[in-house]
Amino acid sequence: MTEEEFYGNDFPRLQLAQTQLTGLFSEYTHLYRDEGSPYTVQSITSRIKAPESMARKLKRRGLEADGSLALTRVHDALGFRAVCSFTSGVYHMAQWIRQRPELEVLLEKDYISRPKENGYRSLHMILRIREGKAAGLTAELQLRTIAQDFWASLEHQIKYKQEVPKEELIRKELKRCADEIASIDLTMQTIQELLISSSLLK
Ligand code: GTP
Ligand code: MG
Repeated sequence: MTEEEFYGNDFPRLQLAQTQLTGLFSEYTHLYRDEGSPYTVQSITSRIKAPESMARKLKRRGLEADGSLALTRVHDALGFRAVCSFTSGVYHMAQWIRQRPELEVLLEKDYISRPKENGYRSLHMILRIREGKAAGLTAELQLRTIAQDFWASLEHQIKYKQEVPKEELIRKELKRCADEIASIDLTMQTIQELLISSSLLK
C-alpha cells in the first residue's frame, strides 16, 4: 500500500508539515552552525511513517489500521530526529522549540534524566503545529547526542527482532555501553565548557 492510499488527503498535509518543521529546525541549526559552539546540531532527519509500520502500531493499540486514526490517535506519523553534539545542546534546542509561537508542545518524555531500563536515552517532544496549512498535525521529535544516537541505532537492530542470538549477553553489554556513553557525554561536555571558559579568559 502506498502512502497516498493509506493516509489519503492527509498525505500532502503531512508533507507540508515535514517541510514546515524542517525549515523551522534548520533556523535553529543555522544559529549555532559555528564549529566550537556548544549547541551545534550534527543532523536533523525526518520520515513519514510507512503504512505497514503505522498499521502494525495501530493494531498493537487495538485500533483499526486506518489512515485517519494514524493522525488522531498516534502522534508520530511524522517523526524527526535531531542529533546534537552535547547534552546541554539537547536541552537548549528543546527550550528554543518550547518558545516557538507556531508550535504547541503536547508532551515531553525525558529519557535522558530518566533512561529506559534497557539504557535508552533521548528527549522526546510531541509537537502540534498551530499555524499554516498543516495546522493541527502533530509530529514526534527525538533529540539526543551523537553518542546516544549511535547506541540507539545499534539497539534498534535487536528491538524488533524475533530471535536474537545470545540475547541476554547482548542486552547486558548494550546496557553497559549506554551507561558508559552517559559518562563520556558528561566528560565531553565538561571539557567543552572548560575550552569555552579558557578562550573567554584570553
Ligand atoms: P512507540 O514505542 O513508538 O509505540 O511509542 P511510545 O508511546 O512507547 O513512545 P516512546 O516515547 O517510548 O517511543 C517513541 C519512539 O522512540 C519509538 O518509536 C522509537 O523510535 C524510539 N524509542 C523508544 N524507546 C526506544 C528504545 O528502547 N530503543 C530504541 N532504539 N528506540 C526507542
Ligand atoms: Mg515505545
